[in-house]
Amino acid sequence: MTTTTPQARDVDVAASGDVPERGRLVVEIGSGPDAVTVGIFRFGGRLHAWENVCAHQGGPACQGRIVGRVRERLDEGKRSLGLRFDEDTMHVVCPWHGYEYDVTTGRHPGVPGASLRRIEVAEAEGRIRVTV
Ligand code: FES
Repeated sequence: MTTTTPQARDVDVAASGDVPERGRLVVEIGSGPDAVTVGIFRFGGRLHAWENVCAHQGGPACQGRIVGRVRERLDEGKRSLGLRFDEDTMHVVCPWHGYEYDVTTGRHPGVPGASLRRIEVAEAEGRIRVTV
């Protein structure tokens, strides 16, 4: 039996300026059953790209709200001093049920194994390309 591997597509999707620091761009590549929707994020100067399919139930995770990770501050006695957003991380929250992903790792911080599928992304000469 022979199997075929779909040909990877290297696609120019945007200008570098379309994804500013802490910004995001969602692009659809192709059409029909071969279409892939990709969320591209920039954080700390680097680009990260993920397939726009939530690990929970397939929702459009890359199109949700962007927030810093929520951390609880504790005093010496481990009593809560309240919650705060950690601006050293950048998360995207799936709009369907709230699964949250670190945009640099694609992983949910609290659900082991729940992660987005990484898409290769490259930037050169003011253009952004992805490989799907
Ligand atoms: S589909 Fe994303 S949180 Fe449920």
